[in-house]
Amino acid sequence: MTSDTETPDVPLDLLVPSAERLGPDPAEQRLAALYATGGGRHVRANMISTVDGGAWGADHLSGSINDAADWRVFRVLRALADVVLVGAGTARAEGYRALRRPRGPAGAVPGPLELALVTRTGRLPEELTATSPLVVTTRQGARAIGAAVPPDRVVVAEGPRTAPGEVDLAAGLDALADRGLAAVLCEGGPHLLEAMLRAGLVDDLCVTTSPRLVGAGPGRIVAGAGGPGPAAGDRPARLGHLLHAPGTGTLLARWELRSA
Ligand SMILES: NC(=O)c1ccc[n+]([C@@H]2O[C@H](COP(=O)([O-])OP(=O)(O)OC[C@H]3O[C@@H](n4cnc5c(N)ncnc54)[C@H](OP(=O)(O)O)[C@@H]3O)[C@@H](O)[C@H]2O)c1
Repeated sequence: MTSDTETPDVPLDLLVPSAERLGPDPAEQRLAALYATGGGRHVRANMISTVDGGAWGADHLSGSINDAADWRVFRVLRALADVVLVGAGTARAEGYRALRRPRGPAGAVPGPLELALVTRTGRLPEELTATSPLVVTTRQGARAIGAAVPPDRVVVAEGPRTAPGEVDLAAGLDALADRGLAAVLCEGGPHLLEAMLRAGLVDDLCVTTSPRLVGAGPGRIVAGAGGPGPAAGDRPARLGHLLHAPGTGTLLARWELRSA
């Protein structure tokens, strides 16, 4: 794995909307332009899937199905975001800690890259709470967190749109925006993504297709029981752009959901 301080030395071919090779570039001028959000409030989700739909590999982690091409785009997306929003399950599984903003990409947001965790229960590992992440949770979750995270870092988001004990994700995003965290990068996991999609909160969905199969076992990038919501279930998506890594065949798509 390449360190997040270096630009992966891997070319990418832009296939859609125009054919173009994006050679390695420490400033990532072209990728930064392709993924620019235009400022203001924007919610992007970024996920990786195998060809046969697996969201993780044999070790139950998504790191085992990604590669340098995915990493190249991943670090640009983080550079352009104010905050990374992630479900507590992924934070626990993948060992999330305080984030470092990748250096180099043009248009990178100045200042630290915030991490916001979404949890109903508030049961977060001590190594994580010790880094004082933002936490978007329920009243019960906030009680469970207690003093482990400074109170001004805990957003209680329950509201009329959600059942008691559920996080109102729209209210959570409003609270983040009120803190100046308008450009949101949701890195999953599958349960959080399902709820975000169902609530109609995702502007664009970036999906890397990893050139491998993992067979039965791993779940998809969307999981959960589903339920009512303004954007639940079957719906169209519009291709924004498509990149191809010539060395491996990895495909990196940006799907626009609002304009589809
Ligand atoms: N392929 C990819 O791109 C990708 C990306 C991320 C993760 N993953 C993989 O996905 C697996 C984890 O899957 P997962 O579905 O369990 O991840 P997840 O969605 O991050 O975690 C589920 C947990 O997050 C919290 N959560 C999620 N949605 C919530 C909501 N709407 N409201 C309140 N809390 C919410 C809850 O935490 P509490 O239990 O604390 O209440 C819930 O139990 C790992 O193997 C990870 O490696 C893959």
